[in-house]
Amino acid sequence: MPAERTPSGRRRDPRDRRPPPRRRRKQKRRVPPFALAIIAIAVVIGVIALATRGGDETATSQATAEPVIPKVSEADIAAAAQQLGPRDQELVNIGQTGVSVNKGGNGRKVVALTFDDGPGPDTPAILAELKQLNVPATFFVIGGNVQENPDTFRQVVAAGHEIGVHTWDHKDMTTLKPAQQKAEIESTAGEILSTGGVASRLFRAPYGSVDPSVLKQSQDAKLLSVLWDVDTVDWTRPTPDQIVQTAVSQAQPGSIILMHDGGGDRASTVAALPRIVKDLRAKGYQFATVGDLVISNPPGPDDISAESRSTQR
Ligand code: NI
Repeated sequence: MPAERTPSGRRRDPRDRRPPPRRRRKQKRRVPPFALAIIAIAVVIGVIALATRGGDETATSQATAEPVIPKVSEADIAAAAQQLGPRDQELVNIGQTGVSVNKGGNGRKVVALTFDDGPGPDTPAILAELKQLNVPATFFVIGGNVQENPDTFRQVVAAGHEIGVHTWDHKDMTTLKPAQQKAEIESTAGEILSTGGVASRLFRAPYGSVDPSVLKQSQDAKLLSVLWDVDTVDWTRPTPDQIVQTAVSQAQPGSIILMHDGGGDRASTVAALPRIVKDLRAKGYQFATVGDLVISNPPGPDDISAESRSTQR
């Protein structure tokens, strides 16, 4: 019975009891380092891919991947600090008390619409509605998404909306070490500045998850921590009717209303937006950015807190 041979001629006759030739054993030993190099390259590519997906709905399952966070230059940070005008200083002063603002005070019938987790594919549709309605809004952006969608981000800035920091990759900040918390905030503030040419003065923690350390990092970056008092839970993809109902029925003077322009399909949010504005205007409400709302309706003791809000987005 002839021994079977592969095209390379390496298959041995099973009757052959001699030790395998030395050359073959050497080749076998060379394989593991090569395989390890392939695995290492695949892991690096995977980490980069995960880190740049930002506010995707699967973000929570990516918590174990280390983010690739760009460094912000000292010059960028110094330039941002110098841009503190009187309005900025007013917001920073509220932030220096080490709390988050949940809503403005009850002084006037003004509310702020806020959009988180962008910029993304649905951001231009949100911008078009806001322009049509002549309503200013506040966008809490993901640094990685700004890097991925710089033109969309510049459209948000050019339309005059306010920009807030929503971290680089939407991690729960309370699970990070202080140095990582600082990097999440500074990298995003740096990306906002370098891409959009504006210095943000607002910070919103992903999931509304804050603790004293997170609030201190926000303070140190001269940002005001902002949460909300009306949650439309639009990320759960309710119908536009349900989003309108939640926003309009829960809004009070000074309310900060949470919606999303990123993190998934936002068609329901886009459809709900003009109806929310129309219904709230019919009830006598005006619209302002978060910064203008907080300044025009200064929050009272019941409107601020050091506690987390509970939400999945
Ligand atoms: Ni978010």
